Amino acid sequence: MYQNMPANIRITEVGPRDGFQNVKTFIPTEDKIAIIEGLIESGLTTLEITSFVSPKAIPQMADAAKICDAILTKYDGKIQASALVPNFRGAQLALEAGIREATCVISVTEAHNKANVNRTHEESLQELIKMKEGLPDLKMRVDLATVFACPFDGWVQPEAVADLVARIKGVGIDKIVLCDTIGVATPDRVYALSQHILNRFPDMDFSLHLHDTRGVGLANMIAGMQAGMTSFETSVGGLGGCPFAPGAAGNTATEDVVNLLTDMGVKTGVDLTKLLSVVKLVREKVDADLSSHMAKAKIYDCL
Ligand code: COA
Ligand code: ZN
Repeated sequence: MYQNMPANIRITEVGPRDGFQNVKTFIPTEDKIAIIEGLIESGLTTLEITSFVSPKAIPQMADAAKICDAILTKYDGKIQASALVPNFRGAQLALEAGIREATCVISVTEAHNKANVNRTHEESLQELIKMKEGLPDLKMRVDLATVFACPFDGWVQPEAVADLVARIKGVGIDKIVLCDTIGVATPDRVYALSQHILNRFPDMDFSLHLHDTRGVGLANMIAGMQAGMTSFETSVGGLGGCPFAPGAAGNTATEDVVNLLTDMGVKTGVDLTKLLSVVKLVREKVDADLSSHMAKAKIYDCL
């Protein structure tokens, strides 16, 4: 038996945001809603369902308010639905649409922060303060991008991540998602960063968001668990990628994670059979190659 595995973990499904944002052909709103509903019915109760961003930057997210209306009306109080917001305007729109927890994204490297949200660190932190103070009904968390490496600036050191975490903590945020935006981390790096951050900030809520560009997503997740991480963001079908990070591929697939962890005795709360029927729906409705192993594999009735 593997040592130091948690009894259960929290999965935040980010396919409807991180996945859909990278799909060029517009996915009809009703299809997005059907996929999100399927994900919820399969047991995923924490989901990032959309983002309130400039439709010029990401046209796929133009129906954010309609998605929130449909999902929050149907599942009011039963799920934790969040949305990504790049600026105060997005946060305001998210709140008006009924969202109560939003994700603000800041990259550890200024080059990617500039490319992604057109801001310096200082400007992003000021925007975060504006959101916290101006919209007290909206709980904020931060997606910290490029925590292992940046497509423009190369490898990133854990100390640089910790310094920015400290500044974000200073603004009053206690929930941070550590994102391998371009998916180049390896288990050693994930273990080292997770341990460093968990030791230095024991009272904060951290998650890992591990893109699977080089096929190391699952191994990285296990390394994170070995270091004490119990919260992960994954994407149905392995959809995903940042349009402003050249070379970024899909996220670690939710169904690959559920398959692995179910067999290892780590509870996820997700029904794999139901989830695989959503993967089928994604394949039918979304114009994208699915990188997930479970989506490609033969499913055996006896296993
Ligand atoms: N929702 C809708 N439209 C928005 C918006 C929001 N949250 N924020 C800005 N806009 C619009 C503005 O109205 C303006 O439109 P116009 O050209 O028709 O006047 C345009 O976007 C630029 O606005 P500005 O305030 O100058 O924005 P900016 O240049 O400081 O920032 C971002 C641009 C960051 C808002 C934009 O690039 C964006 O939304 N990026 C998406 C980032 C993302 O989601 N990355 C992937 C996830 S990690
Ligand atoms: Zn991502």
